[in-house]
Amino acid sequence: FKLPAIENEPNQHYEAGSSSRAGLLAALAQMRAAAPFEIPCIINGKEVKTGKKQSQLIPADHASSLCTYHEATPSDVDSAIKGALAAKVKWESMAWADRAAIFLKAADLVGGKYRYKIMAATMLGQGKNAWQAEIDAAAELVDFLRFSAKYTEELYAQQPPKNAPGVWNRSEYRALDGFVLAVSPFNFTAIGGNLVGAPAIVGNVVLWKPSPMAVYSNYILYQILEEAGLPAGVIQFIPGPAEAIVAQSFKHPLFAGLHFTGSTAVFKKLWKDIASNIEIYKSYPRIVGETGGKNFHLVHKSADVKSSVLQAIRGAFEYQGQKCSALSRLYVPQSLWEGKGGFKEQLIDQVKLITLGQPEEFEHFMGPVIARHSYDKITSYIKKAKAAGGEVIVGGQADDSKGFFVHPTVIETKDPKSVTMVEEIFGPVITAYAYPDDKFEETIELVKETTDYALTGAVFAQDREAVAYMADKLRNAAGNFYINDKCTGAVVGQQPFGGSRGSGTNDKAGSINLLYRFVNARSIKETF
Ligand code: ALA
Repeated sequence: FKLPAIENEPNQHYEAGSSSRAGLLAALAQMRAAAPFEIPCIINGKEVKTGKKQSQLIPADHASSLCTYHEATPSDVDSAIKGALAAKVKWESMAWADRAAIFLKAADLVGGKYRYKIMAATMLGQGKNAWQAEIDAAAELVDFLRFSAKYTEELYAQQPPKNAPGVWNRSEYRALDGFVLAVSPFNFTAIGGNLVGAPAIVGNVVLWKPSPMAVYSNYILYQILEEAGLPAGVIQFIPGPAEAIVAQSFKHPLFAGLHFTGSTAVFKKLWKDIASNIEIYKSYPRIVGETGGKNFHLVHKSADVKSSVLQAIRGAFEYQGQKCSALSRLYVPQSLWEGKGGFKEQLIDQVKLITLGQPEEFEHFMGPVIARHSYDKITSYIKKAKAAGGEVIVGGQADDSKGFFVHPTVIETKDPKSVTMVEEIFGPVITAYAYPDDKFEETIELVKETTDYALTGAVFAQDREAVAYMADKLRNAAGNFYINDKCTGAVVGQQPFGGSRGSGTNDKAGSINLLYRFVNARSIKETF
């Protein structure tokens, strides 16, 4: 088999008066009117209503619930594992093109018939505006599904380069010997798709624990996969309490892999739990995780100020700073920062223009943060920064009367190791440090060593020597490194995504490398 050429999904733009905007608005209105939806677990292709119910709220309007979902209990997890292992027998033996066809069809359904529905669920449930939902639940999700098929084709084509006389050497890539647990985050519907899709397309069966704050969009994706032909039991949709679901999965001897996106603290805990169970497992489980970040923009004195300001605003405040890749540390030379028309003044003036609102109101650049706990955490970091001597130069306001709204905030600090320069906030807050022009080398050290994270980062300069110098010195500071562009917005098939150090195992979502983590390779030598 040879797959057709795979391209990135083209974006729709939702301009006023366009049919895309009308379609999306209709989906949003319909969803608001019909909510709250009742969402079951799906185990072996069947709806399971456990009766233990929780709500997913609309963060822009927290008095409203988007869905009520049934939580999986430990015994549901057991049936999910049993059913998945039974489904695995046929699934892993299927011709790979038949598995790939399911994901290619699901990609077409996401990008076509269900585009506005899954976007509307992402906008209402996860607090995205139209553009942020478009680049996540439409384009990136489609890309993950399609490119996984392409990378699977490339994986299976990897063969030993040599045969000896009378010898035929082959490589074979089989699913892991057990099941994979995928624990997905709230902030990207697409990431949920990749956490389950990448292991499944190479023949694994997957237990999917979606984030409680993304259950509805993730359920729609599950249904789309089913419509595309996914056999029952291959992916088991089991929302519910993370600790109990994870603990039950980790008790099973055939637990074979964890595919995780979430916080560093949780990932470390899961890693330790797996380690402490190591004697019961049939294989060493594969542990793949993308975790926290404390991402930077480093501006050089040769940078174009206007464009660096714009990229800082986009990197920090799109989706309210809740991308794992979002900018949160900004380093600007004092000569560019200060003065009339300088970086600081431009930044303040432009941030003041940003408005926040409901997902249906297309004029807003920002929406709510995801939940009460995030709102509290973000606002408490703003207080902590002030207490530590930081100055809020713009923003700082927050209003939780209707939704969890935190205004875009810039803190200027004289202490480059102050708390908000070091700890992940996961909200619309940048801490800026204006560094002395003659302390460029020391600033590079600060960028590199202030945090234990290494997810994304960007440098801004027109001087090519400075670009090369920063790229070299910051080699280990970011898994995704941008030159004269913001540190968010990696595109599948173009910039494989992931960080190292405390930011993850750097197995690169959107690359063939990720698939290697979810297969058992067998080298076969046959003599004639
Ligand atoms: N892939 C997302 C980004 O790069 C997380 O912003």
